[in-house]
Amino acid sequence: MKLTVPILALALLPFAALAEAPVVDVAVASEDGVRAFNAEEIPTYNIAEDGTLDWPTFSGYRRYHAECHVCHGPDGEGSSYAPALKESALRMDYYDFIGVVAAGRQKVGASDNSVMPAFGVNPNVMCYIDDIYIYLRARGTDAVDRGRPAKRADKSEAFAAAEAACMDG
Ligand code: HEC
Repeated sequence: MKLTVPILALALLPFAALAEAPVVDVAVASEDGVRAFNAEEIPTYNIAEDGTLDWPTFSGYRRYHAECHVCHGPDGEGSSYAPALKESALRMDYYDFIGVVAAGRQKVGASDNSVMPAFGVNPNVMCYIDDIYIYLRARGTDAVDRGRPAKRADKSEAFAAAEAACMDG
């Protein structure tokens, strides 16, 4: 009986570590000329060793602060009204994240009636949702500091073409 507790504690250790720091794959495995992707083909940020942001991550910084920060706080830090998205982007599955942004969400039975609006038909959000997601992941892993990023790459022609196609569609 005396042995049970330490053995159990040891067995639970990996789970405790997981709960504190979610294991997220942000390593660049491929690029399509527009954005970078991890091994599971989920968009990811691509930040050079000297701190230069790829254009999509910088785009995410701009779009987040245009569309989301009024409720979610600057730099993905959260507010008294809405959760810290720099953490949500690490914790939530990519598809769940996109789903909440597109469809919105309302806390059931919440007294404060906090509502996440649906952005599914807003091209200023949906055409840049991958950018917003990777910016928030970069904030969550501290790959990007708070505030306006100092160094960024230029917008690629492929990005501009994809952007134009999305905004026109
Ligand atoms: C009008 C205020 C408002 C705006 C603007 C807003 N949100 Fe939200 N959002 C909320 C609230 C409130 C919640 C919490 C809803 C709940 O508890 O179910 C939320 C929840 C979320 C969640 C779920 C987070 C989690 O951890 O479960 C995601 C993802 C999200 N918002 C993304 C975004 C993105 C991306 C934008 C900008 C494009 C945005 N939101 C703009 C108010 C807002």
